[in-house]
Amino acid sequence: MPATILIGAQWGDEGKGRVADWLAADSDVVARYAGGDNAGHTVAVGDKVYKLHLIPSGILHSRVTCVLGNGMVVNPIHLMREICDLQAQGVPVTPQNLQISSRAHLITPGHIALDAASEAKRGAGKIGTTLRGIGPAYMDKTGRSGIRAGQMVDPEEFAEALQAHLEATNDKLHRDGFAPIVLEAAIAESVEAAAFLRPFIRDTSLTINEWLHTGARVLCEGAQGTFLDVDHGDYPFVTSSSPTAGGALTGLGMGPLSVDRVVGVAKAYSTRVGSGPMPTELDGELADRLRGTGKNFWDEFGTTTRRPRRCGWLDLVTLRYAAMVNGFTELVVTKLDILSGFETLQIATAYHIRGEVVETVPATATALESAKPIYEALPGWSEDLSRIRRWDDLPGAVRGYIDRVSALVGVPIRTISVGPEREQLVHRP
Ligand code: GDP
Ligand code: IMO
Ligand code: MG
Repeated sequence: MPATILIGAQWGDEGKGRVADWLAADSDVVARYAGGDNAGHTVAVGDKVYKLHLIPSGILHSRVTCVLGNGMVVNPIHLMREICDLQAQGVPVTPQNLQISSRAHLITPGHIALDAASEAKRGAGKIGTTLRGIGPAYMDKTGRSGIRAGQMVDPEEFAEALQAHLEATNDKLHRDGFAPIVLEAAIAESVEAAAFLRPFIRDTSLTINEWLHTGARVLCEGAQGTFLDVDHGDYPFVTSSSPTAGGALTGLGMGPLSVDRVVGVAKAYSTRVGSGPMPTELDGELADRLRGTGKNFWDEFGTTTRRPRRCGWLDLVTLRYAAMVNGFTELVVTKLDILSGFETLQIATAYHIRGEVVETVPATATALESAKPIYEALPGWSEDLSRIRRWDDLPGAVRGYIDRVSALVGVPIRTISVGPEREQLVHRP
């Protein structure tokens, strides 16, 4: 049975968690393939709100097996905490329903210190990272000096590798005038987490391919978003991994023919946390209306860092580009309910860049920074959408908005969401 890949079409936080939760109901396996606990995926089920950082959203479905793939960077201390927190909330997490790739790289307290140091050195030009050590961990991976999850299986080898890595990290921190890490505490905490995680470690490329061959339905849950991708995003204001479709193949050890469905997820407007270009960014009252006050869990404040998200109109130029580099076979649009009450909605269909009309995403962040959106105005709607469950009950303006977006992106939209709860989805008949 071919796999499905789920991908953020914007700058992250599109609602991937809630869409993964929907798709997981028809999946046997849900696997994360990129990033680490920089991700924050929210799933609302009844009166419970789960915020998942490393564990795939599929964990909330009792018959699903979850995988942390080789493309991820895993902080063992944070993963142990996330497993324990879920167990405390009554969600079973055991080696029977969670596997960690022995080839995934580990994030250490050293990587977290280096992330903070790097941001401090960049000053005003900082990336605005989540300070979870993501960049430094991927740098060690590609620099061929990282530590892999499989090394946690041998306690002595792991402690030695960690000690050497932390000593080297302290040298770097010292050279740049930053405080060193206290080795004994960092090693003790990591060794404890390693012992806890040992039973979960597997060659997940083997298990995923076995599942694919025996007809299991595999969902690859993307983290971050297309414009945070180290290749396709607004470099250097990106994360250090490949959240796009290709990343799912390398990040799980699957061949390209094992996939037949690529689901993009986009918010009905745009948001971004951290630095970097965002052509349709709004400020003042319009941005505040989109962002909300922070009182509701779905308001636009970071799931991982609680930073207020930058908000703006929907950007079709970037969405079209995302559809192209990922090969979306469909697009799910979330948070339509938030757009209720705007008389007119704007969607960007092209940019003015240095006097020229541009219909694609320029390769440099400086060019995108100078892009002035060319907007098309669409009629808004005033109705509350949160209780609507049938496509035909949607106000005509909502259907008009969706159809126009679908036509401009060139990808079908068959599912939208009108609230954060599991059942607040509307499917086109
Ligand atoms: P992810 O990182 O892509 O999984 O997205 P996040 O969980 O970080 O952010 C999306 C936020 O929007 C979460 O608080 C979700 O509960 C919320 N959300 C998702 N879909 C909808 C929707 O249709 N309407 C509303 N109001 N909130 C939604
Ligand atoms: P989910 O999976 C939104 C952003 C950070 C920063 C840049 C680099 O919840 O959509 P990093 O810590 O990865 O080195 O930060 O990427 N970023 C996210 N923004 N959602 C995310 O994940 C993000 N993960 C990273 O804000 O701009
Ligand atoms: Mg998020």
